[in-house]
Amino acid sequence: MTRPVLEVEDLRVRLRTPRGPADVVNGLSYSVGPGETVAVVGESGSGKSVSVLALLGLLPARIATVTGRALLQGEDLLTMKPARLREVRGAGAGMVFQDPMTSLNPVLTVGRQLVEGIRAHGDVDKATARRRAAELLGEVGLPDPEGALDRYPHELSGGMRQRVIIAIALSNSPELLIADEATTALDVTVQAQIIDLVEKLKQERGTGVIWITHDLGVVAGIADRVLVMYGGRCVEDGTVDDVLEHPAHPYTRGLLGALPDLARPLPDGSLPELATVPGVPPAPTDLPEGCVFWPRCPVRGDVRCETEQPPLVPIGPSSGALPHRAATWCAEGTLGTEGLEAFGTESPRGGGHA
Ligand SMILES: Nc1ncnc2c1ncn2[C@@H]1O[C@H](COP(=O)(O)OP(=O)(O)OP(=O)(O)O)[C@@H](O)[C@H]1O
Ligand code: SF4
Ligand SMILES: [Mg+2]
Repeated sequence: MTRPVLEVEDLRVRLRTPRGPADVVNGLSYSVGPGETVAVVGESGSGKSVSVLALLGLLPARIATVTGRALLQGEDLLTMKPARLREVRGAGAGMVFQDPMTSLNPVLTVGRQLVEGIRAHGDVDKATARRRAAELLGEVGLPDPEGALDRYPHELSGGMRQRVIIAIALSNSPELLIADEATTALDVTVQAQIIDLVEKLKQERGTGVIWITHDLGVVAGIADRVLVMYGGRCVEDGTVDDVLEHPAHPYTRGLLGALPDLARPLPDGSLPELATVPGVPPAPTDLPEGCVFWPRCPVRGDVRCETEQPPLVPIGPSSGALPHRAATWCAEGTLGTEGLEAFGTESPRGGGHA
């Protein structure tokens, strides 16, 4: 088996907050293979962004304690010297974060930022780097790429700025690309263009991709594997087919129920009402003792759910090389349609184990 581009083992992040310590990421383990896209999904606050910021040493040391291992091509990002980590962030790992304003330097032109990035990590002269920069801006769908090189970030729209950041992230053909809601703010045509570009990079360079998104439609289109996060934990992961077609965790089923195209049909063949997951995610300063989803789970069972944390374990046949895993006491087989129907009920307190 080829070596993964990234192997994360037992990643934990504790943040110091005014309300006490917050356990924001709680034992995340996964890998990203060459040319593979792992989509990370989960509600707001589930720890998706913090988990990738932690990998790249981008959380302020004064508030964050990060433990575990994160091997990028065999080198541990979490114990790397700061200088090496800066090198890796420029070349080995490209990042596109949620907020385009904070990722660009407002006093440097777009061209200068791109050219400097290209030259810092490759032996190229200025003219070649500028040509490459314009090419990249064209590839991410920016109109008049040559002209854009001489503009400052504030002269561009939010969508244009986001495309510049994507161009910078791709400029050194990274081994790992982390995209955190990278295309959410862009219109669908540009989004499709960027997804094509990332596909090309995956095929040509074997780049591994972590794609964080709220958009399950995008997940279905681009992901090879899916990791579902809740309360800082992975509650389910597997191939895109395993997770979207045979979701085992009640939370995943709830998320999918919110998307009619992917919702499980009821026994009579009809689709359920648009399901939501009632309630709100737990505060990381006050996580439930047992199953992290327990307070909201519509099919929670006996006292075990409340007191014992279910481990993330293989739960049945997998359509890929890695197992389909879920962390729930109710995953022997899958829940059956009654599991999803339960999300449509008034009270999330009904039922026992399927
Ligand atoms: N600098 C910080 N200080 C204190 N708490 C933080 C900080 N950054 C994040 N958190 C908390 O960590 C938890 C996870 O945040 P994170 O940004 O990773 O969520 P997310 O899954 O990316 O959500 P979204 O989908 O809204 O982007 C949240 O409860 C958030 O309030
Ligand atoms: S059935 Fe129990 S273990 Fe499974 S998700 Fe619900 S509360 Fe958690
Ligand atoms: Mg986020």
